[in-house]
Amino acid sequence: MTRATPLDPVAETLLTPLWARAHAPEVVPDLGFHDPYAADLLDRTGFDSDRVLTDHGNVAGTIHRTLVLDDLVRSFAHRHADAVVVSAGCGLCARDRRLGPDLPATVTWIGVDAPEVLDVRRDLVDDDPSTLVEASVDDPGWLDDVPVGDRPAIVLAEGVLMYLDDAGLRGFLTGAAGLRAGSEVAADVFHPKVASSDRHPIVKATGARFRSGARDGAELAGLVPGFELVAEHDVMERIGRPHRVAAKAFSVATRGGRMYHLAQLRVTGS
Ligand SMILES: C[S@@+](CC[C@H](N)C(=O)[O-])C[C@H]1O[C@@H](n2cnc3c(N)ncnc32)[C@H](O)[C@@H]1O
Repeated sequence: MTRATPLDPVAETLLTPLWARAHAPEVVPDLGFHDPYAADLLDRTGFDSDRVLTDHGNVAGTIHRTLVLDDLVRSFAHRHADAVVVSAGCGLCARDRRLGPDLPATVTWIGVDAPEVLDVRRDLVDDDPSTLVEASVDDPGWLDDVPVGDRPAIVLAEGVLMYLDDAGLRGFLTGAAGLRAGSEVAADVFHPKVASSDRHPIVKATGARFRSGARDGAELAGLVPGFELVAEHDVMERIGRPHRVAAKAFSVATRGGRMYHLAQLRVTGS
């Protein structure tokens, strides 16, 4: 991004999903996804295209992930009219504005990210429906200043957990485990073998490193007490045949490991 003070490499990764949402109508028209805010936001960042992944596979994967999360948020909000939607590592995601008008008016939105990212967001987003909270989501106390109260929450970590180290991943989950029972966490996660390979193109584009992962949703749910696995949602398998084949081969080679998927966990309150 062309700002007086450049963002750090992990923060700068926010440009890639923003680019995907902005360009989805021409890159993956078959998915029927349209984010009316993304293109304008992207332009206003003054982004550097060399630091953004723009290939078809990445755009398709990002949009499939977005669509799964949109469905999970809608479903949660329709079951809990007093829901709080917490975007952990919100970047410049505009899900609050895209989905909010079709959800019960009592649903509230909170975005958590690093101070430098929230500064950018405040500069670029007028009338942000999300309450913004500066916190590092790898800290077990990351929800301490997040105004959830005793309401049911759905925490989204979209393109975030891979940047936390092992202790940070447990810290994130430990914080979320304190939410009211029945709350949910939905997060995309790489297998540790992929996370530790440093071969994902985003590493080359931005310098941000992947640092942790989980072999499947059950392993993620078991990292700290207080969670049960609700579902594992396919993402890369939806991109197309080559990605499906790669995911299958990886699963065979790792005795059932998931190369990349979206895990849906529920807080048990125990
Ligand atoms: C790939 S971007 C995704 C942004 C957003 N979720 C989206 O889908 O557009 C990763 C985001 O996670 C944030 N992030 C990474 N590590 C974080 C941490 N420890 N605490 C808070 N935010 C973090 C980054 O600043 C960045 O905004």
